[in-house]
Amino acid sequence: MLKIENITVKVLDKTILEDFNLEIQPGEIHVLMGQNGAGKSTVSKVLLRDMHYEVVKGCITLNGKDLLKMNTTEVARDGLFLVNQNPVEIKGVSNAEMLRTALNDQGKKEQNILEFNRSLTTLCEKLEIPTSFIHRDINYNMSGGEKKKMELLHMWVLKPNFIILDEIDSGLDVDSLKLVAKSIQEYYESYKPSILIITHQKALLDIIKPEFVHVLGNKKIIQSGHYELALKIFNEGFSGASIIDKSDACE
Ligand SMILES: Nc1ncnc2c1ncn2[C@@H]1O[C@H](COP(=O)(O)OP(=O)(O)O)[C@@H](O)[C@H]1O
Ligand SMILES: [Mg+2]
Repeated sequence: MLKIENITVKVLDKTILEDFNLEIQPGEIHVLMGQNGAGKSTVSKVLLRDMHYEVVKGCITLNGKDLLKMNTTEVARDGLFLVNQNPVEIKGVSNAEMLRTALNDQGKKEQNILEFNRSLTTLCEKLEIPTSFIHRDINYNMSGGEKKKMELLHMWVLKPNFIILDEIDSGLDVDSLKLVAKSIQEYYESYKPSILIITHQKALLDIIKPEFVHVLGNKKIIQSGHYELALKIFNEGFSGASIIDKSDACE
């Protein structure tokens, strides 16, 4: 479904990824780990077609299509969804307005506005966010944790089939992290999307058990394995587990 082959990515002439490969099949849960600055968010930005990240070599296919020929709107229409490490604030556009427009764009049957608002209210209650947030501007003046929960609300409404969670845990308190992880797990059980999780948090992976774990270092994936690899890293650290030594670190 998603195949990244030998990509080299540059930002402002600095090479961030080189000969990077990753393949994710429908319904698989993968985790991407790596030290700060290794290039994890860069992978998510490339997939969502942020044009600051120039793919100078390699190819990416999504559902058999050339992703590098698609723009952000097209990859989103194809079901790719990113919970950004730092969700953007969009002043002047409310969550409800954006979601109704996005659903129309998906060609879904126009929902009665009362029914639509009721479904958003139910989601707010499930995610323990004030129902008034539905009519607030997207992420505007919200706390870090509230933003992450709102992004999850968007996910439940838009029903993407490929989800990238870039440090969804950052900004969440212990209870909210559990609630968010359980919500993602419930979404996975319901719709079986592919998921790429970028995280440093064991608590998240204890609930959403990943099948595949990859470590990014020296601009590429240097080790892949299963959940035990993540546990080793949580216990011993990247250098303690001899996965990344100092010469591997991103300059
Ligand atoms: N838009 C950008 N402009 C300049 N440098 C960037 C930009 N985005 C990322 N970088 C640099 O690329 C490297 C990888 O960043 P990032 O992908 O955010 O790492 P990670 O998510 O693994 O912490 C870092 O050194 C970062 O400073
Ligand atoms: Mg990052």
